[in-house]
Amino acid sequence: MNAAPAPPLLRLGVLISGSGSTLANLHARIADGRIPGAVIAQVVSTRAAVRGVEIARAAGLPLAVLRPRDFPDGPAFSAAVAERLRAARAELVLLAGFLSFWHVPADFAGRTLNIHPALLPRFGGRGMYGRHVHEAVLAAGERESGCTVHLVDDQYDHGPIVAQARVPVRPGDTPASLAERVGTAERELYPAVVRAVVEHGLEWLAEFATGRRPPLSL
Ligand code: GRF
Repeated sequence: MNAAPAPPLLRLGVLISGSGSTLANLHARIADGRIPGAVIAQVVSTRAAVRGVEIARAAGLPLAVLRPRDFPDGPAFSAAVAERLRAARAELVLLAGFLSFWHVPADFAGRTLNIHPALLPRFGGRGMYGRHVHEAVLAAGERESGCTVHLVDDQYDHGPIVAQARVPVRPGDTPASLAERVGTAERELYPAVVRAVVEHGLEWLAEFATGRRPPLSL
């Protein structure tokens, strides 16, 4: 008897702007079988000369460079990103160090995620990225930090939280040492959420948007 056909792969669209460490991690884990059932169907970068683009090219991933400044306005840029994702039949969109604003269209609402290097709702919002986040956490005297995966809505770092991972802030931490610890947690959390979506489905993910499902602690 023939084995049952494998279920179709969940098609990921990954949006980047910079160093691409999140993309590299997702790609490596898909390639070595640690995120079974997913495939990167499209990478969109808002910048051409960044390491993330080199990573996408070296990995042979479908890549489009769409720079906001090449479009007349934000809505035109957002529409072009959405068109590219639709053309690639992306089902789940992952913001991965994405520094532009993407207005999520209705057909991608509830299926677009971001990862942020702090415990939202604190230490998020416009300008809160990279080193700035960890500086703010240390300046506030926090004893823990972490990372957050959330559904994307129409405000920076704001949508419903899907999962968080916590790390301690240690005496003597610098923004760099804290970033390192949070980064290690990020490299586990984002793949874990993608695996959960593969397992439970996109409808399950959308339930976080309705408040019916509390955030996961991974
Ligand atoms: C990380 O801080 C992540 O939380 C945020 O972007 C940073 C990674 O950027 N969303 P990249 O993937 O190396 O470009």
